Amino acid sequence: MSKITVDDKACILCGACANVCVSAQVYDIGSRAAVAARPEACWGCGQCVSVCPVDAIDHDDFPLDKCPPIDERHLPPIDDLVNLFRSRRSNRTFSDRDVSRDLVRELVSIGRWAPTASNNQGLDWVAIDDRTRIAELSGATVRTLLRWAGWARNPIARLAMRLVLGRENAQAAWRSLAGARSLADRARDGVDPIFYRAPVLLIGHTKPRSPFSRDDTIYATYNLMLAAERRGLATCQIGLFQLPLARSRKLRRAASLPEDRVPQVCLVLGYPQYQFRRVVLRRVPDLVWNPR
Ligand SMILES: Cc1cc2nc3c(=O)[nH]c(=O)nc-3n(C[C@H](O)[C@H](O)[C@H](O)COP(=O)(O)O)c2cc1C
Repeated sequence: MSKITVDDKACILCGACANVCVSAQVYDIGSRAAVAARPEACWGCGQCVSVCPVDAIDHDDFPLDKCPPIDERHLPPIDDLVNLFRSRRSNRTFSDRDVSRDLVRELVSIGRWAPTASNNQGLDWVAIDDRTRIAELSGATVRTLLRWAGWARNPIARLAMRLVLGRENAQAAWRSLAGARSLADRARDGVDPIFYRAPVLLIGHTKPRSPFSRDDTIYATYNLMLAAERRGLATCQIGLFQLPLARSRKLRRAASLPEDRVPQVCLVLGYPQYQFRRVVLRRVPDLVWNPR
């Protein structure tokens, strides 16, 4: 349990700590100061420490000397932010340049400044920067997809897929599997059709049966991707590896994914061979107000 105390000489009774802690309800507002009346309910988000205008909260998970003030002057203006979003692309052409492990560590670390359900912060990563291993995983993935494509030609398997996935999803899955043959052909020609010869493969994983793990993962991964762009790197999510990895013990072992963890996202990382120069168009989402 976290140790939380409020300095009653510093507290100005503004109530901000109690108000931002509306879900966990750790704080009561006493007559002289706020009181951390239910520290056992704290889920460690640190919002109370972050919001207190007079630094009156002593929370042992968030010592003030490790929690610097947010400096508004260093936050990007909206146009810069949107430009960053618009310029991020999935890149499938990588130069031969290696990526330093420090840089990968930095990016993974940046990923953590993302929301997680109940602040669970349960996402961890496996990084593979051994090119031979990445090539082996690519080959194993193509073989798995080819095997699945063989099964998917069986009418009973097709019916099962349709029942489990629904008609549209099953059709999309058949289309992807139909492409497995061409992946195998490209692999035979010396191309890496899965990871594009990227120097780093990242696998984000969480513990099983956590209902929002996927959401947590995607937010963190997008942080990581955007930060990678600003470090001159390129990324590409690799669903073609992710799906077989989630279902094949052999692939999991080949990737050394811990037995008790679920792969949630796979992406490649490296220095791009080409820079994208223009922003392209995107569908504008429908937005319906107050539908009935
Ligand atoms: C869930 C997901 C899975 C993806 N899987 C692959 C993949 O297996 N191989 C690949 O080359 N690109 C993959 N991508 C990249 C998409 O093709 C790409 O995001 C899309 O074409 C839009 O292009 P952009 O990212 O450059 O804006 C994936 C993207 C997402 C979000």
